[in-house]
Amino acid sequence: MPLSSRHLLGLEGMPKQDIQLILDTATTFREVLERPVKKVPTLQGQTIVNLFLEDSTRTRVSFELAERRLSADVVNFSASASSIKKGETLKDTVRNLEAMKIDMVVIRHAAQGSPHFLTKIMNAHIINAGDGSHEHPTQALLDMYSIREKFGTIEGLHVCIVGDISHSRVALSNIYGLTTMGATVSVCGPKTLIPKDIEKLGVNVFYNINSAIREADVLNVLRIQLERQDRVFFPSLREYREYFAVTKERLKCARKEITIMHPGPINRGVELSADVADSDASIILQQVLNGVAVRMAVLYLLGTGK
Ligand code: CP
Repeated sequence: MPLSSRHLLGLEGMPKQDIQLILDTATTFREVLERPVKKVPTLQGQTIVNLFLEDSTRTRVSFELAERRLSADVVNFSASASSIKKGETLKDTVRNLEAMKIDMVVIRHAAQGSPHFLTKIMNAHIINAGDGSHEHPTQALLDMYSIREKFGTIEGLHVCIVGDISHSRVALSNIYGLTTMGATVSVCGPKTLIPKDIEKLGVNVFYNINSAIREADVLNVLRIQLERQDRVFFPSLREYREYFAVTKERLKCARKEITIMHPGPINRGVELSADVADSDASIILQQVLNGVAVRMAVLYLLGTGK
């Protein structure tokens, strides 16, 4: 069965079969990444534009590698070297790009809903690589892939997302995806960084990091998104660290072996201590590697309609 949508805009409402199909397909591409020649001809002849209008390291490089490893033609577009600087609108920009016969657009944009907007004005397949504080679906898919790789399953595990939940697109996509896949999901952070009514999304809330550590199988630790905060939500980073940082000392209260994840970029010594980030409990670099396989799977499934 193909995916139920011709775009990947978010995980809200995505059927379990679609998530399962992406994760299973990623397993095949994960094997390709271990070969001496990490390339297959699957998307030969297709042109993909990476439209990154907000900063990125992992997602941008990961998509580009995934596209090249599927043999697609790749065009990288950034606002700073484009006519957007001369005042051209997003609509005019993408319609001009589409006139050059492109097949897919991967978009990262600070404005929520920008990938959805592109689906209204273009025929190309659209993939959301992060829209403001809304969704980051491929990050959540690679997170779920990494959890499944480590534990053999997602169902029944307790995943706690720690940090700035209010401003995090990673948190929202993870909540949608993990609850669909049958995980127990909780969030933990200062009251000011947890949206009111978040329980309506099927998650539990911890305001104490030690309680979260005692209960969870996995901690997905998030960065404080200072660039998205227009007011002060806690007194200082020092204060945040004192109450919510995940440290070796704090992990002593875990009742079972705990797995540490982080989508990056890490603010070492703020939300996560360096020794925990680099410890055996951490699968952070495994997440990065799996991200390429998961993005290959998404591009393949959308690009071939399989
Ligand atoms: N995880 C993530 O989205 O990282 P980048 O902002 O570096 O792409």
